[in-house]
Amino acid sequence: MRKLRILFVCLLMAGVATLPATAQKYEGLARTPQMGWNTWNKFADKIDEQLIRSTADALVESGLRDAGYIYLNMDDCWHSKRDSLGFITCDPERFPSGIKALADYVHSKGLKLGIYSDAGRQTCGGRPGSFGHEYQDALQYARWGIDYLKYDWCESYDINAKGAYGLMSEALREAGRPILFSMCEWGSNRPWEWAKDVAHSWRTTGDIWAKFDGTWDHGNGFVQNGVLQILDMNEPLRQYAGPGHWNDPDMLEVGNGLTPSEDRAHFTMWCMMAAPLILGNDIVNMSPEVKAVLMNRDVIAIDQDTLGIQGMRVERGDVEVWLKPLAGSDWAFCLLNRTLEPLDVKLDWRRWSTDDSTVSGRKIDFESHVYELRDLWAKNPQKVVGTTARTKKVATVQVGGHDVVLYRLTLQSASKK
Ligand code: GLA
Repeated sequence: MRKLRILFVCLLMAGVATLPATAQKYEGLARTPQMGWNTWNKFADKIDEQLIRSTADALVESGLRDAGYIYLNMDDCWHSKRDSLGFITCDPERFPSGIKALADYVHSKGLKLGIYSDAGRQTCGGRPGSFGHEYQDALQYARWGIDYLKYDWCESYDINAKGAYGLMSEALREAGRPILFSMCEWGSNRPWEWAKDVAHSWRTTGDIWAKFDGTWDHGNGFVQNGVLQILDMNEPLRQYAGPGHWNDPDMLEVGNGLTPSEDRAHFTMWCMMAAPLILGNDIVNMSPEVKAVLMNRDVIAIDQDTLGIQGMRVERGDVEVWLKPLAGSDWAFCLLNRTLEPLDVKLDWRRWSTDDSTVSGRKIDFESHVYELRDLWAKNPQKVVGTTARTKKVATVQVGGHDVVLYRLTLQSASKK
């Protein structure tokens, strides 16, 4: 058995082997995009059990858990060395109580615990990767009570991606615990084309940074992307996402230094794209404004809609127009201002009639149907603020710089032309 495994690993390295025929993820998880929090965007490698415990407490006290953010994910740098049998251990100084005790605490709060590893020999932060230890690591995570694995792609130069991710997917399933599998190979191997049965989500881009518009080229091949840059890369992939298998445009930077309107726009667009909502800010010290963005249940409902269709851009320009079909006959409609100046938009609905039969089997026709509008960022998102009916004078709405207008559209009646 051991020889077979070594042979398989060699084939993987040679790029010959692909997925084991049986490889399939643990089914039934992430039927809507996963929601939670992750250490990386704010705390990077400076993590310890105290941070995880206090964040668990804050997720509950703030109401974020009850709004749906249930995964509490440790990213890179929780690890120490492997033991004499090859099992991974945690950093004893940062996690003196051990991961099992931490998982017990997190579970006692009604939350789930996530962990991080890498398909290569080392993680991006230089800790041991899972290469050659996939089954052992999956087993260890299951024993500890882990519920989520983010699986990175550093130090993977000679590894076949389909093989490596398929192997860990199978190892997790064999370990017998429902562990959500979140692939993080930055879209390098077009995972949307092959990972539907392997993982519950896959990153589609390189890392995000807390900037609305702009890239940061570190000069060593590592480029970080702003919100708009990621949006543009993730949008064309909408046909590949669906319940249980999501495009992941990376974790949120809401609360990490964007302006209030940028925070709102960033959050809204991730919801329009049915993205996993993994928070990346300091939950313990969060401002009421940031909390209000993250806890807007009507906006979260757009992300978590059970139809599971990623939204689409139906008009480009300084102000973009986006639509997302929702379960039943509702739609989400969003205007995104990419510029820094406030801009007026004429609500000329008929221009935005859209046939999305190929992806969602849905069409929206503003000629033959009238929809009621609810403004999801207004004080009262339940109030109808208008309709899409044709009027003599076309209504105008102003969209602030780096901001959005978000409506939920509900069918009013089938009307005459
Ligand atoms: C990569 C990932 C990030 C984060 C870091 C940790 O860059 O894309 O999301 O996990 O590694 O080192």
